[in-house]
Amino acid sequence: MRILLLCHAFNSLTQRLFVELTGQGHDVSVEFDINDETSIEAVQLFKPELIIAPYLKRAIPEIIWKNTISLIVHPGIIGDRGPSALDWAILTDQKEWGVTVLQANAEMDGGDIWASVNFAMRKATKASLYRNEVTEATVKAIKEAIQKIQQPGSAPLPLEQANAAGQQQPMMQQADRRIDWQRDSTATIIRKVQCADGFPGVKSKLLGSEVYLYDVHPAPGLNGQSGHIIGRNDNAICIATADSAVWIGHLKDKNNRHPFKLPAVQVLGEKIKDVPIINNEDPAGLQPIHYSAQDGIGYLSFNFYNGAMDSEQCLQLQQALIQARQQPTQMIVLLGGEDFWSNGMHLNRIEAAPSAADESWRNINAMDNLALEIIHTDAQLVISALNGNAGAGGVFLARAADEVWARQGIILNPHYKDMGNLYGSEYWTYLLPRHAGEEHAAKISQARLPMGVREAQSLGLVDKAVDVERANWRQQIQQLCKQYTNPGPGQPSIEQRLLHKRQRRAADEASKPLAQYRSEELEKMKRNFYGFDPSYHMARYNFVHKVPRSRTPLTLAKHRRRVQ
Ligand code: COA
Repeated sequence: MRILLLCHAFNSLTQRLFVELTGQGHDVSVEFDINDETSIEAVQLFKPELIIAPYLKRAIPEIIWKNTISLIVHPGIIGDRGPSALDWAILTDQKEWGVTVLQANAEMDGGDIWASVNFAMRKATKASLYRNEVTEATVKAIKEAIQKIQQPGSAPLPLEQANAAGQQQPMMQQADRRIDWQRDSTATIIRKVQCADGFPGVKSKLLGSEVYLYDVHPAPGLNGQSGHIIGRNDNAICIATADSAVWIGHLKDKNNRHPFKLPAVQVLGEKIKDVPIINNEDPAGLQPIHYSAQDGIGYLSFNFYNGAMDSEQCLQLQQALIQARQQPTQMIVLLGGEDFWSNGMHLNRIEAAPSAADESWRNINAMDNLALEIIHTDAQLVISALNGNAGAGGVFLARAADEVWARQGIILNPHYKDMGNLYGSEYWTYLLPRHAGEEHAAKISQARLPMGVREAQSLGLVDKAVDVERANWRQQIQQLCKQYTNPGPGQPSIEQRLLHKRQRRAADEASKPLAQYRSEELEKMKRNFYGFDPSYHMARYNFVHKVPRSRTPLTLAKHRRRVQ
C-alpha cells in the first residue's frame, strides 16, 4: 500500500513503523504535521491509500480523513481518550495498558476501532514505556489494522460496541504531578516523576529555584529531612522523602542560561557545594556503570540517561572496561543501557559548555579512546549486545566490538549527517569497511534513515539478530555466550576465535594503523567544530533546544522529492 505517516516528529515509534512497513513492501513516505496546508499538500502529492498518524498533537484536517482512511495511534486502552494517556496510566499505577488504532473522525480519539493490543505495565518512565511496550503493541495493532483494511467488506468497530474499559481523561497538569515531599512515599514520587519523563518533567522548588525533575531512582537505605538534598554524586542529587530518599539525575531550569535538561549537579552548581558526596560504590549510590561476571563471562552495563555519553562518562566506562579485562573471563559483553545502547556524544553537555567546540573535541576524543580500548581488548571476545536503540556515534562504538548482537525490534540510526553534516569518528572509517565491506560501508554512511535489525544484519552492521522479548534479553544473551565458551562440534573454540582476532588486528594495523584512521577522522571533525561552516553548532542548538522543524526533510518526504 502507499502509506503516508503523518506525524508531529519522526520519533522512535514513527521510525519503527517506517522500518516495519517499508520492510513489508509498503511504499512509505513521511510528512510532519506543521499546519493544515502542508499536510493537505502532502496528501495531494503522495496520494496515499492509507494515512497513519503514530504521533500527532493536533486533529487531522477533515478534508484529509473524509477522503482517505486515516488511522490514529492512541497510546491507551479501548475507550481511553485524551492527550495524557500514558501519564495517567503510570500515575494511577495501572497493571495493564494498551494501544488502540482508531479511524480518524470529527471526534478526537473517538473514532471507530480497527485494532487494539494490550500489554503488562512495567515500572519505568513514560518515555521508556513508549519506546518499548507502546511501540511493540503499535506495530502489532497497525499490522492487524492494515490486514483488515485490505480485506474487502471489513469495517472498524464503533466505540459504543467495543468493550471499553477506558474513559476520557483530561490533560495532566503540573498540579496533578506535584510532589508533596512531606507526605509522598518514595514509590509515589517515583511514579510522579516517571509519568512526566522525558516530557514535561515534574515542577518542584529546590533551593529556591523552580526546576523540572527527571531521571528518578530509589535510594534505599538513605533518609533525612523530607524534601532536603542529603547527598550528591558526580551528576545526581539525593533528596529525602517521607519514607526514604530518591536520586534525581537530571533537572531543567527554564530560567537558567541553559534552559534544557542537564545533570542535576550541574544545574544546581554552587548551591550544593556543601552537600555531602555519596560514593557510587555505596550500595545506595547510583551506578550507571555496572560490572558483573557469571560463568566466565563479564557483563558491563552503562545506563546513561538518554544514551548520551559525556567526556567523563566515556572515561569512566573506559576505566571500567580496563578493569573488566583484568578479570579471568573469556568474553566481555557490553550491555549498554536499559533504553538506549548509546546515542554518542552528550549534546546537552556540549551545548552548556563554555566552549561548545572545545567540549565537542574533548567528548569525541573520549569516545575514540573508549572505542580504541574496545578494539584493543585481545584477551577476551567482546560483544556489543543491543537491547535498546542506538544512534550516531553510539552505533559505531558498538561496532568496535568483535560482534554486534541486536534484539529484533530495536532501531539503529547509523549516521551523523542530521547533526549538521558531522563527519563522525569512533574509527568508523576502519570499522565499517572491516565488518560491512566497502560497498555496504558506503551505503550505510550515506544513508540518513533509521534501520531495523534485519537490514543492519544484511549490511554487516549487526552480526546476530536476536528474536526475544525485551524482558528475556539478558538470559538469552547468557545462553548465546555459552555457545561460544562451550562450542559444539565443528564450532571454533574461544581460543581459536581470539587467535584469529589478534592475527586479523595485527594484519589490519600493518596495512593502516588505527592512529591514522583516527587522525584523518578527527581532522574532518576539527573542521566541523572549529571551521567556518556553523552547521553542526546550529543543528546541535536546534536539537538540544528542541526547535520545531519548519519542514519535513526530503530524505523522509519522498513525495516532495518527486516534485523537486
Ligand atoms: N545527547 C544528548 N541528548 C540526547 C542525545 C545525545 N547524543 N541523543 C538523544 N538525546 C535525548 C533527546 O534530546 C531526547 O531527550 P528528551 O528526554 O528531552 O526527550 C531523548 O534523548 C530521546 O531522543 P529522541 O531524539 O527523542 O529519540 P528518537 O528515538 O526520536 O531519535 C536519535 C533517536 C538517535 C535519532 C536522536 O536522538 C538523535 O539524533 N540523537 C543525536 C545523535 C547524535 O548526533 N549524537 C552526536 C554525534 S555522536
